[in-house]
Amino acid sequence: MAKIGILTGGGDCPGLNPVIRAVVRKALNEGYEVVGIKNGWKGLIEADTVKLDLSYVSGILPKGGTILGTSRTNPYKKEDGLRKVQENYKKLGLDALIAVGGEDTLGVASKLTKDGIPNIVGVPKTIDNDLSATDYTFGFDTAINTATECIDRLHTTAESHHRIIVVEVMGRHAGWIAIESGIAGGADIILIPELPIDIEEVCMLIKKRHGRGKTFSIVVVAEGAQFKEGTMVLQEQARDEFGHVRLGGIGERLGQEIEKRTGFETRVSVLGHIQRGGTPTAFDRILGTRFGVKAVELVKNKKFGRMAALSGMKIIDVALEEAVKELKTVDMDLYDIAKVFFG
Ligand code: F6P
Repeated sequence: MAKIGILTGGGDCPGLNPVIRAVVRKALNEGYEVVGIKNGWKGLIEADTVKLDLSYVSGILPKGGTILGTSRTNPYKKEDGLRKVQENYKKLGLDALIAVGGEDTLGVASKLTKDGIPNIVGVPKTIDNDLSATDYTFGFDTAINTATECIDRLHTTAESHHRIIVVEVMGRHAGWIAIESGIAGGADIILIPELPIDIEEVCMLIKKRHGRGKTFSIVVVAEGAQFKEGTMVLQEQARDEFGHVRLGGIGERLGQEIEKRTGFETRVSVLGHIQRGGTPTAFDRILGTRFGVKAVELVKNKKFGRMAALSGMKIIDVALEEAVKELKTVDMDLYDIAKVFFG
Protein backbone atom coordinates (compact mmCIF):
# COMPACT_ATOMS: atom_id res chain seq x y z
CA MET A 1 0.00 0.00 0.00
CA ALA A 2 1.40 3.41 -0.96
CA LYS A 3 2.24 5.68 1.95
CA ILE A 4 1.73 9.45 2.27
CA GLY A 5 3.45 11.51 4.97
CA ILE A 6 2.01 14.81 6.20
CA LEU A 7 3.66 17.54 8.29
CA THR A 8 2.69 20.99 9.55
CA GLY A 9 5.50 23.55 9.92
CA GLY A 10 6.03 27.16 11.01
CA GLY A 11 3.60 29.17 13.14
CA ASP A 12 0.40 27.26 13.85
CA CYS A 13 -2.96 28.63 12.75
CA PRO A 14 -6.63 27.70 12.88
CA GLY A 15 -7.50 25.40 9.98
CA LEU A 16 -4.52 23.03 10.17
CA ASN A 17 -6.58 20.25 11.76
CA PRO A 18 -9.28 20.43 9.05
CA VAL A 19 -6.46 19.92 6.49
CA ILE A 20 -5.04 16.92 8.37
CA ARG A 21 -8.52 15.40 8.70
CA ALA A 22 -9.28 15.94 5.00
CA VAL A 23 -5.95 14.46 3.90
CA VAL A 24 -6.47 11.36 6.03
CA ARG A 25 -10.13 10.86 5.01
CA LYS A 26 -9.46 11.34 1.29
CA ALA A 27 -6.22 9.31 1.33
CA LEU A 28 -7.82 6.36 3.15
CA ASN A 29 -10.72 6.46 0.67
CA GLU A 30 -8.14 6.23 -2.13
CA GLY A 31 -6.37 3.27 -0.51
CA TYR A 32 -3.28 5.05 0.87
CA GLU A 33 -1.72 4.68 4.29
CA VAL A 34 -1.03 8.00 6.08
CA VAL A 35 1.81 8.84 8.43
CA GLY A 36 1.83 12.03 10.50
CA ILE A 37 5.27 13.60 10.92
CA LYS A 38 5.47 15.44 14.22
CA ASN A 39 6.61 19.04 14.69
CA GLY A 40 7.32 20.03 11.10
CA TRP A 41 10.70 19.31 9.51
CA LYS A 42 12.06 18.47 13.00
CA GLY A 43 9.97 15.28 12.91
CA LEU A 44 11.50 14.22 9.60
CA ILE A 45 15.02 14.86 10.91
CA GLU A 46 14.22 12.74 13.99
CA ALA A 47 11.86 10.21 12.33
CA ASP A 48 9.22 11.14 14.91
CA THR A 49 5.94 9.92 13.45
CA VAL A 50 2.46 8.64 14.21
CA LYS A 51 0.13 6.47 12.14
CA LEU A 52 -2.93 8.48 11.15
CA ASP A 53 -6.15 6.51 10.95
CA LEU A 54 -9.84 7.40 11.14
CA SER A 55 -9.99 7.40 14.92
CA TYR A 56 -6.90 9.63 15.23
CA VAL A 57 -8.50 12.43 13.22
CA SER A 58 -11.99 12.02 14.61
CA GLY A 59 -13.34 15.18 16.26
CA ILE A 60 -10.46 17.49 15.25
CA LEU A 61 -12.33 19.64 12.69
CA PRO A 62 -13.20 22.52 15.09
CA LYS A 63 -9.93 22.35 17.01
CA GLY A 64 -7.38 25.19 16.65
CA GLY A 65 -3.63 24.54 16.34
CA THR A 66 -2.28 21.29 14.91
CA ILE A 67 -2.56 17.80 16.40
CA LEU A 68 0.82 17.01 14.77
CA GLY A 69 2.65 19.85 16.52
CA THR A 70 4.87 22.30 14.69
CA SER A 71 8.29 23.96 14.83
CA ARG A 72 10.32 26.55 12.97
CA THR A 73 13.07 24.00 12.23
CA ASN A 74 14.94 24.47 8.96
CA PRO A 75 16.68 21.21 7.96
CA TYR A 76 19.10 23.21 5.76
CA LYS A 77 20.36 24.98 8.90
CA LYS A 78 20.87 21.81 10.97
CA GLU A 79 24.04 19.77 10.93
CA ASP A 80 23.38 16.82 8.64
CA GLY A 81 19.75 17.99 8.41
CA LEU A 82 19.33 17.35 4.70
CA ARG A 83 20.94 13.91 4.86
CA LYS A 84 18.74 12.90 7.81
CA VAL A 85 15.59 14.10 6.05
CA GLN A 86 16.52 12.15 2.90
CA GLU A 87 17.38 9.01 4.90
CA ASN A 88 14.27 9.10 7.06
CA TYR A 89 12.01 9.71 4.07
CA LYS A 90 13.33 6.40 2.66
CA LYS A 91 13.37 4.57 5.99
CA LEU A 92 9.73 5.48 6.67
CA GLY A 93 8.82 4.06 3.25
CA LEU A 94 7.13 7.28 2.13
CA ASP A 95 5.90 7.53 -1.45
CA ALA A 96 4.84 11.16 -1.15
CA LEU A 97 4.89 14.01 1.34
CA ILE A 98 2.32 16.73 1.96
CA ALA A 99 3.91 19.81 3.54
CA VAL A 100 1.48 22.25 5.12
CA GLY A 101 3.03 25.61 5.87
CA GLY A 102 3.85 29.20 5.02
CA GLU A 103 6.71 30.65 3.00
CA ASP A 104 9.40 29.00 5.17
CA THR A 105 8.00 25.45 5.24
CA LEU A 106 7.05 25.60 1.57
CA GLY A 107 10.43 27.13 0.72
CA VAL A 108 12.12 24.06 2.24
CA ALA A 109 9.61 21.80 0.42
CA SER A 110 10.45 23.48 -2.87
CA LYS A 111 14.21 23.02 -2.31
CA LEU A 112 13.76 19.38 -1.28
CA THR A 113 12.03 18.58 -4.57
CA LYS A 114 15.44 19.26 -6.14
CA ASP A 115 17.39 17.59 -3.34
CA GLY A 116 16.29 13.99 -3.62
CA ILE A 117 12.64 14.16 -2.48
CA PRO A 118 10.72 15.03 -5.64
CA ASN A 119 7.33 13.71 -4.52
CA ILE A 120 6.23 16.70 -2.45
CA VAL A 121 2.96 18.57 -2.55
CA GLY A 122 2.30 21.84 -0.68
CA VAL A 123 -0.66 23.29 1.21
CA PRO A 124 -0.52 27.04 2.05
CA LYS A 125 -1.29 28.24 5.57
CA THR A 126 -0.65 31.42 7.52
CA ILE A 127 -2.64 34.00 9.43
CA ASP A 128 -0.54 36.62 7.60
CA ASN A 129 -2.15 35.88 4.17
CA ASP A 130 1.14 36.92 2.57
CA LEU A 131 1.70 34.00 0.18
CA SER A 132 1.60 34.83 -3.48
CA ALA A 133 -0.09 32.37 -5.86
CA THR A 134 -3.13 31.89 -3.62
CA ASP A 135 -5.90 34.44 -3.03
CA TYR A 136 -6.27 33.34 0.59
CA THR A 137 -4.49 31.17 3.11
CA PHE A 138 -6.56 29.51 5.80
CA GLY A 139 -6.00 30.91 9.29
CA PHE A 140 -6.32 34.47 8.04
CA ASP A 141 -10.11 34.61 8.24
CA THR A 142 -10.09 33.38 11.83
CA ALA A 143 -7.34 35.86 12.74
CA ILE A 144 -9.18 38.86 11.30
CA ASN A 145 -12.44 37.83 12.95
CA THR A 146 -10.69 37.53 16.31
CA ALA A 147 -8.89 40.87 15.82
CA THR A 148 -12.17 42.53 14.78
CA GLU A 149 -13.90 41.29 17.91
CA CYS A 150 -11.03 42.66 20.00
CA ILE A 151 -11.25 46.05 18.23
CA ASP A 152 -15.01 46.13 18.96
CA ARG A 153 -14.29 45.51 22.63
CA LEU A 154 -11.57 48.15 22.71
CA HIS A 155 -13.98 50.65 21.15
CA THR A 156 -16.37 50.58 24.10
CA THR A 157 -13.66 51.10 26.72
CA ALA A 158 -11.90 53.79 24.62
CA GLU A 159 -15.20 55.63 24.25
CA SER A 160 -16.06 55.42 27.95
CA HIS A 161 -12.67 56.75 29.05
CA HIS A 162 -12.23 59.25 26.20
CA ARG A 163 -8.93 57.66 25.25
CA ILE A 164 -6.95 56.76 22.21
CA ILE A 165 -6.26 53.05 21.97
CA VAL A 166 -3.49 51.78 19.74
CA VAL A 167 -4.09 48.14 18.73
CA GLU A 168 -1.02 46.23 17.54
CA VAL A 169 -1.82 43.24 15.33
CA MET A 170 0.34 40.52 13.75
CA GLY A 171 1.03 39.93 10.06
CA ARG A 172 4.81 40.12 9.81
CA HIS A 173 5.85 42.29 6.81
CA ALA A 174 2.39 42.42 5.23
CA GLY A 175 -0.48 44.54 6.49
CA TRP A 176 -3.36 42.20 5.64
CA ILE A 177 -4.51 41.56 9.21
CA ALA A 178 -4.28 45.27 10.06
CA ILE A 179 -6.13 46.51 6.99
CA GLU A 180 -8.94 43.94 7.05
CA SER A 181 -9.56 43.91 10.82
CA GLY A 182 -9.17 47.69 10.82
CA ILE A 183 -11.83 48.16 8.13
CA ALA A 184 -14.15 45.61 9.77
CA GLY A 185 -13.61 47.12 13.22
CA GLY A 186 -14.08 50.73 12.07
CA ALA A 187 -10.56 51.88 12.97
CA ASP A 188 -9.91 55.62 12.70
CA ILE A 189 -6.37 55.10 11.39
CA ILE A 190 -4.70 51.95 10.04
CA LEU A 191 -0.93 51.71 9.72
CA ILE A 192 0.67 48.98 7.61
CA PRO A 193 4.23 47.91 6.75
CA GLU A 194 3.68 48.76 3.08
CA LEU A 195 3.53 52.52 3.91
CA PRO A 196 5.94 54.18 6.38
CA ILE A 197 4.24 55.87 9.34
CA ASP A 198 4.10 59.65 9.12
CA ILE A 199 3.62 60.49 12.82
CA GLU A 200 2.68 64.11 12.08
CA GLU A 201 -0.11 62.99 9.78
CA VAL A 202 -1.34 60.43 12.36
CA CYS A 203 -1.57 63.13 15.04
CA MET A 204 -3.19 65.58 12.61
CA LEU A 205 -5.91 63.00 11.80
CA ILE A 206 -6.57 62.34 15.49
CA LYS A 207 -6.79 66.06 16.27
CA LYS A 208 -9.12 66.56 13.29
CA ARG A 209 -11.40 63.80 14.57
CA HIS A 210 -11.42 65.17 18.10
CA GLY A 211 -12.01 68.63 16.61
CA ARG A 212 -15.39 67.46 15.35
CA GLY A 213 -16.45 66.36 18.79
CA LYS A 214 -15.15 62.79 19.06
CA THR A 215 -13.39 62.06 22.34
CA PHE A 216 -11.80 58.72 21.49
CA SER A 217 -9.92 57.09 18.59
CA ILE A 218 -8.83 53.61 17.58
CA VAL A 219 -5.49 53.27 15.78
CA VAL A 220 -4.66 49.83 14.34
CA VAL A 221 -0.98 49.25 13.64
CA ALA A 222 0.62 46.20 12.03
CA GLU A 223 3.58 44.77 13.96
CA GLY A 224 5.80 45.21 10.89
CA ALA A 225 4.99 48.89 10.32
CA GLN A 226 7.89 51.33 10.54
CA PHE A 227 8.20 55.04 11.18
CA LYS A 228 9.04 57.16 8.17
CA GLU A 229 12.51 57.86 9.50
CA GLY A 230 13.16 54.10 9.46
CA THR A 231 13.25 53.47 13.21
CA MET A 232 11.79 50.00 13.34
CA VAL A 233 11.12 48.82 16.85
CA LEU A 234 12.19 45.25 17.49
CA GLN A 235 11.83 43.30 20.70
CA GLU A 236 14.98 41.38 20.05
CA GLN A 237 17.51 41.26 17.26
CA ALA A 238 18.02 37.48 17.22
CA ARG A 239 16.86 35.74 14.07
CA ASP A 240 15.22 32.33 13.73
CA GLU A 241 16.49 29.56 11.41
CA PHE A 242 14.68 31.19 8.50
CA GLY A 243 16.29 34.59 9.15
CA HIS A 244 13.21 36.29 10.63
CA VAL A 245 13.46 38.79 13.47
CA ARG A 246 10.74 38.69 16.10
CA LEU A 247 8.52 41.71 15.53
CA GLY A 248 6.57 43.65 18.13
CA GLY A 249 6.81 46.90 20.05
CA ILE A 250 5.74 49.40 17.40
CA GLY A 251 2.37 49.87 19.19
CA GLU A 252 4.03 51.00 22.42
CA ARG A 253 6.34 53.45 20.62
CA LEU A 254 3.46 54.82 18.60
CA GLY A 255 1.23 55.20 21.68
CA GLN A 256 3.91 57.17 23.55
CA GLU A 257 4.45 59.45 20.58
CA ILE A 258 0.72 60.08 20.04
CA GLU A 259 0.16 60.95 23.71
CA LYS A 260 3.19 63.26 23.74
CA ARG A 261 2.20 65.09 20.56
CA THR A 262 -1.61 65.31 21.00
CA GLY A 263 -1.94 65.45 24.78
CA PHE A 264 -4.74 62.83 24.61
CA GLU A 265 -4.54 59.94 27.07
CA THR A 266 -3.42 56.85 25.13
CA ARG A 267 -3.34 53.13 25.87
CA VAL A 268 -1.82 50.30 23.87
CA SER A 269 -3.19 46.80 23.38
CA VAL A 270 -1.04 44.11 21.72
CA LEU A 271 -3.26 41.28 20.48
CA GLY A 272 -0.36 38.85 19.92
CA HIS A 273 -0.94 35.10 19.76
CA ILE A 274 -4.64 35.45 20.59
CA GLN A 275 -4.96 36.00 16.83
CA ARG A 276 -3.47 32.56 16.13
CA GLY A 277 -5.43 30.54 18.65
CA GLY A 278 -8.88 29.08 18.93
CA THR A 279 -11.42 27.38 16.76
CA PRO A 280 -11.30 28.05 12.99
CA THR A 281 -14.12 29.99 11.33
CA ALA A 282 -16.39 28.13 8.89
CA PHE A 283 -14.45 29.77 6.03
CA ASP A 284 -11.13 28.40 7.30
CA ARG A 285 -12.58 24.94 8.00
CA ILE A 286 -13.92 24.76 4.46
CA LEU A 287 -10.77 26.16 2.82
CA GLY A 288 -8.57 23.78 4.84
CA THR A 289 -10.82 20.85 3.91
CA ARG A 290 -10.73 21.76 0.21
CA PHE A 291 -6.93 22.16 0.27
CA GLY A 292 -6.52 18.80 2.04
CA VAL A 293 -8.63 16.92 -0.50
CA LYS A 294 -6.82 18.69 -3.36
CA ALA A 295 -3.41 17.76 -1.94
CA VAL A 296 -4.29 14.05 -2.03
CA GLU A 297 -5.61 14.43 -5.59
CA LEU A 298 -2.27 16.00 -6.57
CA VAL A 299 -0.45 13.02 -5.05
CA LYS A 300 -2.79 10.57 -6.80
CA ASN A 301 -2.24 12.32 -10.15
CA LYS A 302 1.52 12.52 -9.51
CA LYS A 303 1.45 16.31 -9.81
CA PHE A 304 4.45 16.76 -7.53
CA GLY A 305 6.21 20.06 -6.82
CA ARG A 306 2.75 21.66 -6.89
CA MET A 307 0.73 23.46 -4.23
CA ALA A 308 -3.03 23.66 -3.69
CA ALA A 309 -4.23 27.26 -4.05
CA LEU A 310 -7.39 29.34 -4.12
CA SER A 311 -8.11 31.38 -7.24
CA GLY A 312 -11.39 33.25 -6.96
CA MET A 313 -13.82 30.56 -5.81
CA LYS A 314 -11.84 27.68 -7.33
CA ILE A 315 -9.17 25.40 -5.93
CA ILE A 316 -6.31 25.15 -8.40
CA ASP A 317 -2.69 24.03 -8.25
CA VAL A 318 0.41 26.12 -8.79
CA ALA A 319 4.15 25.44 -8.80
CA LEU A 320 5.60 25.39 -5.27
CA GLU A 321 8.32 27.73 -6.53
CA GLU A 322 5.70 30.31 -7.56
CA ALA A 323 4.16 30.29 -4.11
CA VAL A 324 7.34 31.29 -2.32
CA LYS A 325 8.75 33.64 -4.98
CA GLU A 326 7.49 36.89 -3.51
CA LEU A 327 5.56 38.29 -0.57
CA LYS A 328 1.93 39.22 -1.26
CA THR A 329 1.46 42.69 0.19
CA VAL A 330 -1.63 44.83 0.71
CA ASP A 331 -3.45 45.96 -2.36
CA MET A 332 -3.41 49.79 -2.44
CA ASP A 333 -7.01 49.87 -3.73
CA LEU A 334 -8.05 48.35 -0.41
CA TYR A 335 -5.95 50.88 1.48
CA ASP A 336 -7.68 53.71 -0.40
CA ILE A 337 -11.03 52.35 0.81
CA ALA A 338 -9.76 52.22 4.41
CA LYS A 339 -8.49 55.82 4.09
CA VAL A 340 -12.02 57.14 3.44
CA PHE A 341 -12.70 56.51 7.15
CA PHE A 342 -9.48 57.96 8.60
CA GLY A 343 -9.73 60.87 11.03
O1 F6P B 1 3.63 34.14 10.66
C1 F6P B 1 2.67 34.08 11.65
C2 F6P B 1 3.06 34.94 12.82
O2 F6P B 1 2.03 34.87 13.79
C3 F6P B 1 3.40 36.40 12.50
O3 F6P B 1 2.26 37.18 12.29
C4 F6P B 1 4.23 36.77 13.71
O4 F6P B 1 5.14 37.82 13.42
C5 F6P B 1 4.97 35.50 14.01
O5 F6P B 1 4.24 34.44 13.42
C6 F6P B 1 5.15 35.23 15.48
O6 F6P B 1 5.92 34.09 15.61
P1 F6P B 1 6.12 33.27 16.97
O7 F6P B 1 4.90 32.46 17.21
O8 F6P B 1 7.30 32.43 16.69
O9 F6P B 1 6.32 34.27 18.07
